[in-house]
Amino acid sequence: MIRTDRRRFHRAALGLSAAASLPAAALAAAPTTLTARVGRARLAPAGHPDTGIWGFDGQVPGPVLRVTRGHRVSCRFVNELPQASSIHWHGVRIDNAMDGVVGLTQAAVEPGAFFDIDFIAPDAGTYWYHSHHRTWEQMARGLYGALVVAEPEGAPEADRDEPLLIDDWRLAGDAQIATGFGSLRDASHAGRIGNWITVNGDAGWSRDVGRFTRMRLRIVNTANARIFTLGVRGLEGWVVALDGMPLETPEVLDTLVLAPAQRADVIVDVVADAGDEAMLTSLERDGGYVLCGFPVRGRARGARRPPPGPLPANGVPDLGDLATARHAELRMEGGAMGRLSGAMLGGRMHDRGALAAAGKVWAFNGKAGMDEMPLLEARRGETVRITIINDTAWPHAMHLHGHHFRQVSAKGGPGPLRDTLLMDRGETASIAFVADNPGKWLLHCHMLEHAAAGMMTWLRVA
Ligand code: C2O
Ligand code: CU
Repeated sequence: MIRTDRRRFHRAALGLSAAASLPAAALAAAPTTLTARVGRARLAPAGHPDTGIWGFDGQVPGPVLRVTRGHRVSCRFVNELPQASSIHWHGVRIDNAMDGVVGLTQAAVEPGAFFDIDFIAPDAGTYWYHSHHRTWEQMARGLYGALVVAEPEGAPEADRDEPLLIDDWRLAGDAQIATGFGSLRDASHAGRIGNWITVNGDAGWSRDVGRFTRMRLRIVNTANARIFTLGVRGLEGWVVALDGMPLETPEVLDTLVLAPAQRADVIVDVVADAGDEAMLTSLERDGGYVLCGFPVRGRARGARRPPPGPLPANGVPDLGDLATARHAELRMEGGAMGRLSGAMLGGRMHDRGALAAAGKVWAFNGKAGMDEMPLLEARRGETVRITIINDTAWPHAMHLHGHHFRQVSAKGGPGPLRDTLLMDRGETASIAFVADNPGKWLLHCHMLEHAAAGMMTWLRVA
């Protein structure tokens, strides 16, 4: 019922006048505590009840945290949920002790307990924070928020700066979050695909703008598993950063594919006429729908601003010689229509049935889920290359903690810096990075049901 209502609802909602927008600074205060707790959100259209969620400070998304590059993020994470939890700072080249990975870098924060967070934000750009314990359930319930790290200087000017966190909820008919988290059926297919899309926790999110307003949109895919193909109408501009990291040359914005956890910073000018509406859309096989709207009221200036230059670089070290780089191979197997007949789990060989009984349907190099041994051990400062072979019938969004990498297998030279790589079914890709951040770092699929069902390994940098 909710799914078929979606498009109509968007259209109706966008006809409403938007609340006055807050200037970016009003969202700015980095809180001294972040409390994970049960809350309620107005996700579904009028006529449906509020949805019970789990959120940071009881809201979804959690508060937008803003700091300037090189500054400290310090706050106390308080867990008031009925379940243990943790916070991971996605894409931040962080101190390993602050990475938030339960079972690898810290213990779970039990209900009623807290964990003190303190790290330096090393890179400017768009990052985000989310739970990293029972992630497939806790993110599906709403435990995420944006971390915006401002450039100390040299950022292109924009009239507005808007984090846009796109989520895909699975709601039941009563507008409550459907249970069945981490079901094997979802896990062995495309993950938990939902039926209700929101931007910043709102299915009809909109902001009034003027003609020729320039905006920096910080788009984050916070869905458990859905891949979005984004388009714009009445907006023209450039992609200036991916996964937080500036592109050396801004690229003209066309359609943009964002896998779970990926981000894009785009700088756009409103080119729709006054009285019209500019919008961000999701393009799907059946035509697509509006994600969020920008009703154009009057004009902001007489003409478009000149194109922006690139964002200042963040100082990620250059790759060393790939021919002599430390190399590992990672073969992904399993899932529906896959060939996995068995895999190691907890040090023992399991056949397909025994794996499924243990909730595992995927394997990396013949091992389902985390192993005691890392995929690879690197010396600090070494260049590492990992060849990832997607020997499955599904796309996957491979995420490395603590580092940004470049795809190096593509013809035409290394790709942009990323922390999450979307790999198509059957695709092989090589990624490379300088292992300059000591600690234990996860490498996993960010389709959270896939990770839970076996697509998870780790590296050690010493
Ligand atoms: Cu977004 Cu393992 O994380
Ligand atoms: Cu996957």
